[in-house]
Amino acid sequence: MGKMNGKVALITGGASGLGAEDARVLAREGASVVITDMQAELGAQVAAEIPNCVFLQHDVRDEARWAEVVAETLARFGRLDTLVNNAGLVRFGTVEDLSYDDFRLQTDVMVGGTFLGCKAALPHMSRDGSGSIINMASVAGLKGISAIPAYTAAKAGIIGMTRSIAVHCREQANRIRVNAIAPGGIVTPMTAQALAELPADNAGLDQVQGHGMGQPADIASMVLYLACDDGRHITGTTITIDNGETMA
Ligand SMILES: NC(=O)c1ccc[n+]([C@@H]2O[C@H](COP(=O)([O-])OP(=O)(O)OC[C@H]3O[C@@H](n4cnc5c(N)ncnc54)[C@H](O)[C@@H]3O)[C@@H](O)[C@H]2O)c1
Repeated sequence: MGKMNGKVALITGGASGLGAEDARVLAREGASVVITDMQAELGAQVAAEIPNCVFLQHDVRDEARWAEVVAETLARFGRLDTLVNNAGLVRFGTVEDLSYDDFRLQTDVMVGGTFLGCKAALPHMSRDGSGSIINMASVAGLKGISAIPAYTAAKAGIIGMTRSIAVHCREQANRIRVNAIAPGGIVTPMTAQALAELPADNAGLDQVQGHGMGQPADIASMVLYLACDDGRHITGTTITIDNGETMA
């Protein structure tokens, strides 16, 4: 008996890295899964390899498309228990170098996309105690990193918003739990690209490499924990998975 039997999960940024691994792990535990992403070809490929998984193309900044994605999830699978707001990206540059366009891109995708996801999904999520929203933050939201001021702002924003939406759910007594995960450096296409692009002395590399890199499975196991009944007493918190990067 899988820990997610009968449950339905919607995962953004599911074509790659952490989101794709979350989809594999939740499906392995019995969930039906919808993954969304801007990368259509890769998303369809990932979904085809996972049982009971469908892919929908979606830019998380698109509010109208959010309504369609939630409606299509309900039409296909009949319910929605887990929302993983995982889509994200990073653009490097100090406050003096980063363009305002690149600042807004990151806050729009990560803070805006997470807000829109919660807004679209919450009214339709299961209220039988299985409802769980998991927002992908980062240790970057817990500290200062000169090379990524917009990314740190976006992830800190996600952590604050997670608490506020969790309080809202408690006030509504809707039994939906809302948490964030703050990973340290994890081996994914995002970090591979950063390692390839950045000069070796870039301060941003400390965040990625300084404490040893984790694997997507290290994050997906926590996504599963928060999504299934094991996490039933956890809401409004941010769980750090960083091999001690932020412990001192
Ligand atoms: N890999 C790490 O070290 C690490 C650490 C902390 C937090 N995170 C966070 O985990 C999440 C996943 O990162 P990853 O490492 O798997 O990266 P990744 O690049 O492998 O995957 C991110 C996915 O998000 C998608 N995406 C980007 N913008 C989008 C948009 N506007 N709409 C829809 N999809 C969009 C991309 O197409 C991609 O498939 C991100 O939020 C990232 O910030 C990653």
